[in-house]
Amino acid sequence: MIAIDGPTASGKGTVASRVAGQLGWHLLDSGALYRLTALACLEQGIAADDVGRAAAAAQALDVRFGDGTVAMSGRDVSADIRREDVGSLASQVATLAPVRAALLERQRAFRAAPGLVADGRDMGTVVFPDADLKIFLVASAEARAQRRYKQLIEKGFSANLLTLLRDLEARDARDTQRALAPLAAAHDALVLDSSHLTIDETVAQVMAWWHERW
Ligand code: C5P
Repeated sequence: MIAIDGPTASGKGTVASRVAGQLGWHLLDSGALYRLTALACLEQGIAADDVGRAAAAAQALDVRFGDGTVAMSGRDVSADIRREDVGSLASQVATLAPVRAALLERQRAFRAAPGLVADGRDMGTVVFPDADLKIFLVASAEARAQRRYKQLIEKGFSANLLTLLRDLEARDARDTQRALAPLAAAHDALVLDSSHLTIDETVAQVMAWWHERW
């Protein structure tokens, strides 16, 4: 079991999915569960501070992950959960203890043979504290904003680098300063700074660390 945590746009999702592919393991994108909870709240008119209903929505999620897709109650919501408003609400509902509690066992249930690569904010600290390898993937805010900018431009969207940088910094602050399961490296995590690495180099480093140990 490999846990990969890190801030927004550090590339952990891509790295986790490539590592899972190379090892032939299962993949858990835990952020998707918070995004799905946020989408359910938006669609059901549940406010970000309505703790009871938000937790009930998390508990009731009917989710199916496919190959790079995710369905909620039988509907493909892969694109919807990537929306900016959904991401923003996700980081708000993620501060609620009952929501985190409702998603805990659901996340742990992904652990199955032959192995699991899980990415998020608290994989190594809270959800899988006994993971065999813990990576804390970081990159400077500038490098992350640049990557996101390039992705958006390539997809034909307009984007503003400075706005992206400010949004990233705001999301980082929310994720690291919250009282509950804040974004932090586990004491036994290996820190990998990908600011000057390509995705291939980052994946290769994770694989090298895995093979050094197992
Ligand atoms: O990783 P992603 O940006 O998709 O996650 C969306 C939000 O969900 C994050 O901003 C964070 O607040 C929250 N999250 C969390 N714990 C996780 C994964 C995501 O609190 N393990």
